[in-house]
Amino acid sequence: HIIRDISGIRSLEESLQQQMGIQDVIIVAGNSDESPWVKSELGRAAASRMKSILTRENIIAVTGGSTIAAVADTLTPSEKEQACLFVPARGGIGEDVKNQANSICAAMADRMASKYRVLYVPDQVSKDIYDSFIKEPEINEVLQLIKSASMVLHGIGDAMTMAERRKSSNEDLEIIKSAQAEGEAFGYYFNENGEVVHKVQTIGLQLQDLANIPSVIAVAGGASKAKAIAAYMKQAPPSTILITDEGAAKCLLKAQ
Ligand code: BG6
Repeated sequence: HIIRDISGIRSLEESLQQQMGIQDVIIVAGNSDESPWVKSELGRAAASRMKSILTRENIIAVTGGSTIAAVADTLTPSEKEQACLFVPARGGIGEDVKNQANSICAAMADRMASKYRVLYVPDQVSKDIYDSFIKEPEINEVLQLIKSASMVLHGIGDAMTMAERRKSSNEDLEIIKSAQAEGEAFGYYFNENGEVVHKVQTIGLQLQDLANIPSVIAVAGGASKAKAIAAYMKQAPPSTILITDEGAAKCLLKAQ
């Protein structure tokens, strides 16, 4: 802690935690936009925080993205008797396979010598498909596990970056642009006041379910994500623990 105190990181963490009204903020040195290894450090910090709050039985819901993939890369098996079951937070959101929640679940389970379940659902399903999908016993079982998660590990993205990465329709892109969406998490798009302006219709965890989940860990860094983080944090449950980097943190504090 000494080095963190001298470099002022501890006081930055405290200021941000108060500003956002969340449980805790952890800041790693550097800016992940500029230095790729900072993302690994975000992963390491998130993995260690996650392990410190595991209990005997854990159902851990995870989202996709390169940041959560970095968490998977640094996980190691638990020293204690702690059973973990990893589930994807939401149905397949159009990402590269390695950054999909399903693949990350498998990687985390592998690293922690534990179990995982998958949810292969096309992105942006229609109402009819949605209704019949959730009646499938296999899918329904995974959905029940997701709703009873004890922990959620999620990324936050810049709204336009995510909309483009998901190959959203022109119509959706227009909505996201004209509503001035800044941030995205769990397939929900938020404006600077934290209001939901658009949502990707998929099965799995919905924003309102977060209130029932004891531990919520958000992992996002890079100065380019500062506005996105600020927007989502207006909505985030107070139990949220944010793991970020100095690049984002300094912009977040300036924006106050
Ligand atoms: C996606 C999640 O997979 O990753 C999004 O569905 C999240 O909710 C995004 O915003 C973050 O991605 P990255 O690569 O910036 O960590």
